[in-house]
Amino acid sequence: MTTTTPNTSHETEASRADEPLLVVEDLAVEYESAGAVPWRRKVSRAIDGVSFEIFPGETLGLVGESGSGKSTTGRAILRLNDAAAGSIRFQGTEVTTLGRRTPLSYRRDVQAIFQDPNSSLNPRHVVGRCVDDTLRTHGVTDPGERRARAEQAFDQVGLSTDHMHRFPAELSGGQQQRVAIARALVLEPKLVVCDEAVSALDLSTQGQIINLLADLQAITGVSYLFIAHDLGIVRHISDRIAVMQRGHLVEIGEAEELFTNPQHAYTRKLLGASPASKPEGRDERRARREAFRQMHEAETQLA
Ligand SMILES: Nc1ncnc2c1ncn2[C@@H]1O[C@H](COP(=O)(O)OP(=O)(O)OP(=O)(O)O)[C@@H](O)[C@H]1O
Ligand SMILES: [Mg+2]
Repeated sequence: MTTTTPNTSHETEASRADEPLLVVEDLAVEYESAGAVPWRRKVSRAIDGVSFEIFPGETLGLVGESGSGKSTTGRAILRLNDAAAGSIRFQGTEVTTLGRRTPLSYRRDVQAIFQDPNSSLNPRHVVGRCVDDTLRTHGVTDPGERRARAEQAFDQVGLSTDHMHRFPAELSGGQQQRVAIARALVLEPKLVVCDEAVSALDLSTQGQIINLLADLQAITGVSYLFIAHDLGIVRHISDRIAVMQRGHLVEIGEAEELFTNPQHAYTRKLLGASPASKPEGRDERRARREAFRQMHEAETQLA
């Protein structure tokens, strides 16, 4: 483990000199659907020829219009969709040819946060149990250790031990999403696929959760594949951004560069269609995170 120094932009540049954590190459995913007649099933390619890399500690934003293949790409990385062609290498290991059951180590290292936390939390269990179950599944047998790690995870996401004893329905949307983040991060993963992780939240909660994700990244060095519609949010959190159109990746580049100097006509169209293309530099971004951190500390002291 490396020491937990803050992940400044300078370090992000440095870490990019490392080996990539994830290499996606010429990836294709197909869906099969019922045809006009049952014996003629239709196969359609949802994504094709998709290639990109994610480096340690980096956030890669993934944008594109609805149906362009963002979730399909994320789900292939999570092994929820099979690859029809191409390759996904995680820390040098080919992922697409692993057996039917995803190895536990991969399920630990690559986590997901989806749009609707409610659907991924068991309504019949208190949320502390959800995190406990995750630890148990991953071989943490000592109940005392599980409890300590769950408490630490809840604390990291700004929830108290009191919240651990509540059912999902007794939490706000933002709190539920914090539980989903706690569960995703408790195993100290290397990559988290965030698929519209804040899209269902109101604006101020979105900001808090985004800053929380950025803070946790600074502490843990986790990488994010950040899928979202909202270009303002993606610009705020991403180091680089990839743009998808109709199943293809049409442009990828440094976040600010992509916003200020988009190369592909589709990217220009997408940015033109976005109401939130106000520039925010790294200094502003850091200042905002710092303000959030102070606010969070103040809240914790009050609690
Ligand atoms: N389970 C499925 N079966 C058949 N086709 C699917 C399935 N899931 C997605 N598709 C199709 O694959 C394409 C890509 O869908 P995907 O969900 O990856 O898009 P997306 O970019 O995540 O869109 P959104 O922004 O609306 O979430 C679409 O044409 C979609 O209709
Ligand atoms: Mg989607």
